[in-house]
Order: sequence, then C-alpha cells, then structure tokens
Amino acid sequence: MTRYKRQDPEMSRRRFINLAMGTTAAVGGVSLISALGTANPVFRLTRDKMPPLKGDILVHASNNKEGQPVRISELSTQLVRAWPMGKDENGENVIRKGDPNNILALYRFPKGQIVRPTNLDATIDGETVAYSDVCTHAGCSVADSDINAGQMKCPCHSGQYDPKRGAVVIGGPPPRGLAQLPIALQGENIVVTDFFLTFPYPYTNASEWASFKQEVEEQLA
Ligand code: FES
Repeated sequence: MTRYKRQDPEMSRRRFINLAMGTTAAVGGVSLISALGTANPVFRLTRDKMPPLKGDILVHASNNKEGQPVRISELSTQLVRAWPMGKDENGENVIRKGDPNNILALYRFPKGQIVRPTNLDATIDGETVAYSDVCTHAGCSVADSDINAGQMKCPCHSGQYDPKRGAVVIGGPPPRGLAQLPIALQGENIVVTDFFLTFPYPYTNASEWASFKQEVEEQLA
C-alpha cells in the first residue's frame, strides 16, 4: 500500500500563495504582486514537479520498465501506471515524478465500453483513457479492484472508481472522481494534449487548480 502525503515544498509554496491572497483581501492594503514576487525566487517550481503538460510523453512507472514509453499494445483492462515525461530547460528529458501526485493510471477497454461522463474526445479512439492515479480522498495510489474486474479500488479506505465512466466514485469516501488527463496517439507515443480536465488531488476546488495552471504557464512562458 502506498500513501502519498503532501509534504513537498511546492505545496508549502501554494499554501503560502493562498495565504498571501487571503491576507491581501483581508487587509486590503497589502500588494499581492509583492507577496508573490517575494515568494517566487524562493519556491521556483522545477520541471520534474510540474503537472502533466501538453506534449509530454507517457512513460512506464513500474520499476522494471520505468522511463520506457508506454505503447498502446501494452494496455488492457488492467491498470498500467505511468509518469508524464517532458523536457527540462536544456531540452533534456525529465520524468515528472518529483511530485508523486503526477502518477497516472492508463486503461484500454474494448470499443464501446468507455462511456460518459468520460470525455471521449480526450481518449484515444474511445478505447484508451488516462486518469490521475491519486485518490481524491486522502491521496493514496489507486489500484485495480481485487473483486470487480474493470473497477478501481483505493487500498486506504476502500474508495471505488469506475474507469469506464470517467472514474466516477462508485463507493467509499472519495469526494469526487479521478481527474481525466487528455491524451492522443502521436506515432507510437501516447502524448498529453492538455492539463487535467478537472482538478486533481491535492487541489480542493477548480479555482485553486486554475491558479496553479496559470502559475505553471507563466513560468514556462
Ligand atoms: S485515500 Fe482513498 S479512500 Fe481514503
């Protein structure tokens, strides 16, 4: 059982920014820009901790294949874990596993089995789909269900998700489904085409996630 706890400095940074925003609103006279400007040099988001980004290639996360590009032919109704791999500032490959919440779950189901609310346009041919593999309840890594084939189960508190229906919650305490990651096939590679479609763990609302995406885009610009 793997449980990912949020203790990395990037989250401290995000919390700091949220705190700065709250403080700014409360006192009305403190400059948010100066608060962020002070924070940026100290907590710069490194490429290995950035979320999956457009153009990233999905690579295996398992020990014996880590870093190898995932091929469609390797996917099935059994979960395959993957990391997004992008480029660093020097154009070198970087696997974005510096943030454990970037771990992904990949599935390939027979045609017609993946249905809404899955965003079918964000799948490959309606058969291959990618989700965050981090439980929205408390951040554990979600696995295949040991009882119901084709379903996912969180080992921590028995949260259950349906990967054929947008990874919606079908049991247990998770507050929302797993975030879907839009993907496409480019040559033999599975590539990311955009950010997660909804906010992944550890974000608690869409606006927090939107702020973080903006922060990432500004840093990449
Ligand atoms: S962390 Fe997954 S159900 Fe609690």
